[in-house]
Amino acid sequence: MAFKTIKEIFAHNQEWIAEQLKDDPEYFSKLSKQQQPKYLFIGCSDSRVSTEALMYSKPGDVFIHRNIANVIPSNDLNVLSVINYAVNHIKVKYIVVCGHYGCGGIKTAITATDAGILNPWMGYIRDVYRLHKKELNAIKSIAKRSDRLVELNVQEQCINLVKTRDIQQALLENRIEIHGWVFDMRTGKLIDLGFNTQKVAKEVLDIYNIVK
Ligand code: CO
Repeated sequence: MAFKTIKEIFAHNQEWIAEQLKDDPEYFSKLSKQQQPKYLFIGCSDSRVSTEALMYSKPGDVFIHRNIANVIPSNDLNVLSVINYAVNHIKVKYIVVCGHYGCGGIKTAITATDAGILNPWMGYIRDVYRLHKKELNAIKSIAKRSDRLVELNVQEQCINLVKTRDIQQALLENRIEIHGWVFDMRTGKLIDLGFNTQKVAKEVLDIYNIVK
């Protein structure tokens, strides 16, 4: 259903309430008690990346943070606060970083142009490009290069998770798993990039370890 007007959204809200109560009269009293999601999902703000559709999830299942091109900068208090709360208070078991092919943020970042106020944010993605410049520049097709950068960006953002104190502590206590995914909206497929947290942690923690 594509919403057209604000009025329709509120009408739909009434329908939704009625539907939930029909299935379970206690639905809202249960929902309002507490949340115990097992997943933290960090994805792109793109309107087509819907966790409900991708993960077949319902209210209460997934704690969500989204920004342009699913970036996890080490100085972004917004995403760091979400991670802190999810890992230490909600105690999620899985953190998913999910990129998507055809990402506008990645497409912009891959072109060396002035993106105005977006320049600092693009800089985070351009850093990923620089790290993998050799591999990426060997891909002739810009669309394919961009798709590969989507995957490498997910991988690097997973590494950025490992750089944080909260995640290092949780990994040490063996209570968190990190997964890197890509959503291919041309087919609807969710692809697991096979991010190996333990292997990556071993490779980078001699530089980034901050938990004694
Ligand atoms: Co995107």
